[in-house]
Amino acid sequence: MSETLRIEDRDSFVLATLDRPEKRNAIDQELVDALHRLCARLEVERRTLVLTGSGGTFAAGADIAQLRERRATDALAGINTRCFQRIRALPMPVIAVLDGYALGGGAELAYAADIRIGTPTLKIGNPETGLGIIAAAGATWRLQAIVGEALANEMLLTGRILGADEALAAGLVSAVLEPGAALARAIDIADRIAELDPAATQATKRALLAPLSAHPEIDLAEQAVLFESPEKQRRMTEFLERRSKR
Ligand code: COA
Repeated sequence: MSETLRIEDRDSFVLATLDRPEKRNAIDQELVDALHRLCARLEVERRTLVLTGSGGTFAAGADIAQLRERRATDALAGINTRCFQRIRALPMPVIAVLDGYALGGGAELAYAADIRIGTPTLKIGNPETGLGIIAAAGATWRLQAIVGEALANEMLLTGRILGADEALAAGLVSAVLEPGAALARAIDIADRIAELDPAATQATKRALLAPLSAHPEIDLAEQAVLFESPEKQRRMTEFLERRSKR
């Protein structure tokens, strides 16, 4: 357990809330450790994760007080980078609800999610160069893939922060809803995913995460496994029998 990462088990997903509102949920080592423990659990339990923040903020970045003390060896250890990579690679989908600030490492944690829902107060971006560092925990490679090269380059080279409308227009979030409705939307999505075949969902995620050079072989290999699965047989038979009864 961690005092700064609140974890609740729900029917179709696990809800994890960054809960350090007095520091705008700044991601410190304790939070990173708690996220690793959560990943270790979700890698085994294979459940959808909904990530959110408390106090009207997602996360205002890595903890600058700790960042200031870090040296070259800490940079090479990739403290946030490895943690967000692990979240990105979780077997089941990760849905982030982004309320208020999602800055720096907080934005990069959001970029690591599969699905992002924003609220009207969202402010998202990467001010790292203003602090004398780079956004090394995913922004330089994930943000281009999400919003395209032109906007990603502008955001990372100027530190410009996007509001909710612009984030929505850029596809950085798929919806903008008031906080309660945003969480409700994330829950709806998790419930919907829970009705699908988990093996097919996980295979889809593996294919989505594979490098371009792995396609189409990875898709064919994943499909070969699923074509032999009793669940595929059951789901398709159910569909066909339902139709023939009509
Ligand atoms: N790391 C460490 N502490 C942080 C933090 C961060 N990334 N973001 C906020 N905090 C702390 C502040 O130091 C302050 O602590 P204190 O009360 O002990 O002084 C507390 O959280 C509240 O922050 P404050 O700035 O007073 O809140 P605000 O609502 O006026 O402003 C922000 C919110 C997010 C605009 C502002 O805190 C900010 O600019 N944070 C840094 C954002 C950033 O550069 N992130 C990238 C890091 S890689």
